[in-house]
Amino acid sequence: MSSSNPKVVDIHTHMYPPAYVELLESRKTIPFIRRFAGAKDPRYIILPAEAEALDKIASSEFETISASLLPGRPITTHYSSLAQKIHFMDTHGIDISVISLANPWLDFVSSEVAGETAKSVNSAFRDMCSTAPGRLFFFATLPLTAPPETLLAAIGHIKGLKYCRGVILGTTGLGKGLDDAALVPVFRALAANKLTIFLHPHYGLPSEVWGPRATEEYGHVLPLALGFPMETTIAVARMYLAGVFDAVPDLRMLLAHSGGTLPFLAGRIESCIVHDRHLVSEGKVGPRRRTIWQVLKEQVYLDAVIYSDVGLKAAIDASGVDRLMFGTDHPFFPPLNSDEQGEWESMTWNKEAVSKALGVDSEGAKAVMGGNAVEVLRLYDEE
Ligand code: URA
Ligand code: ZN
Repeated sequence: MSSSNPKVVDIHTHMYPPAYVELLESRKTIPFIRRFAGAKDPRYIILPAEAEALDKIASSEFETISASLLPGRPITTHYSSLAQKIHFMDTHGIDISVISLANPWLDFVSSEVAGETAKSVNSAFRDMCSTAPGRLFFFATLPLTAPPETLLAAIGHIKGLKYCRGVILGTTGLGKGLDDAALVPVFRALAANKLTIFLHPHYGLPSEVWGPRATEEYGHVLPLALGFPMETTIAVARMYLAGVFDAVPDLRMLLAHSGGTLPFLAGRIESCIVHDRHLVSEGKVGPRRRTIWQVLKEQVYLDAVIYSDVGLKAAIDASGVDRLMFGTDHPFFPPLNSDEQGEWESMTWNKEAVSKALGVDSEGAKAVMGGNAVEVLRLYDEE
């Protein structure tokens, strides 16, 4: 890509096609969308902690409770309107967005309908992208609850979808996590078709770790700021320990939130491996072992959704400046004290972090802001 015409690319940005919103509206257990009397927008309730908060509010209180105490998040046009996504991009100077369905994807869909649901969601994403050719690409969604043959057939479907560059994936896999040997054929099929996995958290950590005061006093801070990144860290560490990256050397994973805490903890993971008698006695720590540092530099990309140059520098040190990609996490984290149609801190903070870590308008900053995404995800090609 010519650096004289650098592109700004947002690779972490979510959309909910209208049919998916309808599906959520029809549900009574998480995830679901529900209207509350007196609240302007319906609320989207996805996290287990939010369901607990909902249980604590007696239904008689729903009409009187202040909006800031309602569980979940208001679901505004930012979630499903393509015009709104383009407005967000234009407001923030984003040339290209690689959109993806947000958590919890199709994790809750029954096995019998998962394949068809994935097909319709992924086709909807293709159609959305075709309305703004060259500006929108997408990560598709897999029907993980479907039978294995349906799941593999879904990869066959998405590989032929125009504008598709990979899949967004949570950490549960088929129910046993991403170190499950049964997932290796799925990883192989994705790798063979050059479909990058965008790994994104949803389940966080068990709510007991946040203590009894969390639900009422600390809002979403602990599960989102700490639970999400730890979930990603644990999932990838398990894949690494299970040898998934060696079993599928062409696998490419883009990790949300700058890899959780992996860049910070990779050294400790290494130390624990070489000092583990069990691993050593099993011959798993031999001279041909690829370290987690190598995997971070060879098979992993990291988004730059970390909101600070301190974390971003660690991510760049761990994976390399050519493996970081800018993102916003739109439509999550809207500004609370200014117009939602204006500027969002998710853009300004993450962009400032890039400038601070790499220098304003430096070649490295241009690469992270868009050049890397254009190359890695082949965004120069409209197919
Ligand atoms: N909260 C979520 O549930 N998902 C995101 O992607 C960001 C915040
Ligand atoms: Zn996200």
